Amino acid sequence: MQKSLFIKLFVLFVSVNMSCFSLNAQKKSTAISTDNKITEKVLQEVLDQNKHFASQGKVADYIPELGKMNADAIAFSVVDTNGKVISVGDTDKKFTMQSISKIIALMVAVQENGEEAVFKNMGYFGSDKPFNHFGSLEITGKPLNPMMNAGAILTVSMIEGDGETAFQKVLKMVRFITKNNNINYNETVYLSEKETGHRNRGMFYIMKNSGLINGTEDQLDNYFKQCSIEVTAEDLAKIGYFFANECVRFDGDAIYKNTDLSKLIQSQMMVAGMYEFSGEYARRIGLPSKSGVGGGITVSVPGKMGIGVFSAPLDSHGNSVAGYQMILNFSKRFGLNIFAPK
Ligand code: DON
Repeated sequence: MQKSLFIKLFVLFVSVNMSCFSLNAQKKSTAISTDNKITEKVLQEVLDQNKHFASQGKVADYIPELGKMNADAIAFSVVDTNGKVISVGDTDKKFTMQSISKIIALMVAVQENGEEAVFKNMGYFGSDKPFNHFGSLEITGKPLNPMMNAGAILTVSMIEGDGETAFQKVLKMVRFITKNNNINYNETVYLSEKETGHRNRGMFYIMKNSGLINGTEDQLDNYFKQCSIEVTAEDLAKIGYFFANECVRFDGDAIYKNTDLSKLIQSQMMVAGMYEFSGEYARRIGLPSKSGVGGGITVSVPGKMGIGVFSAPLDSHGNSVAGYQMILNFSKRFGLNIFAPK
């Protein structure tokens, strides 16, 4: 009797241990690695765990040429605190910056005119409205901020020079920040937006009517061209790093070092970089970020690093779905939220 009880207990002990062992083995195969260093392996895990979210989004097609983008391409890149670039996925895949170009144009306009002049006719507001909303032009006569289309069109119109000079200055700055002179704009995407961007043209003429803009339609073309600049996720990580680190480039070049400018740009990214999703994004991720309808998002981790993501399918706000999830996952893992104590 005692012997059979002992056998039963022994069998129970073995089977409990066996199931714990198989649970651990299972955990080991699916769990994210726990070392706290940013490595290619870690980035690959983040990408693999979140790429399926792309199927929940839709590639932008209101600019017809954008609708041709590959929905499966995905890339994730980080420039770490030492300026080291680490990338995984479709790292060579180029896509258009779209609205991410707005932070570069803002930098150039402020450098030339000073912040006061640039914000004389524009607010610092956040928004509960989509990027192409321009109701504020009727109510206050001014764009809400330089991140929404109306404010971005006004911003590039303030950069000095005829014809495409303003665009060339924006392009030159993107090339400097990324240290990549091969960057150019995609003429087909530019022409596609020029042909169909009637809403942006409408904003341009409302601002011309009220005297905020004085130039010709070349200024609107400069906006379309800056949106069509082609980059990779790696380029976006370098841009994020630049604004996170007082406008010092990832390789340490400090020629444009400007603490005030980087504070201005990051604050605009925080309050309006993700449009009407900015508040919720700040709540969940807590990092200055800027999205574009090309599927890119650039993120600044203040004083630390830059993140660049790409995945073309977008949510209803015009932000990359898988891109957002990768940033969320990565920022949680490394405790990057600026509102959380370290
Ligand atoms: O003006 C437009 O509609 C586009 N060129 C840019 C919009 C955009 O990227 C919004 N961002 N998510």
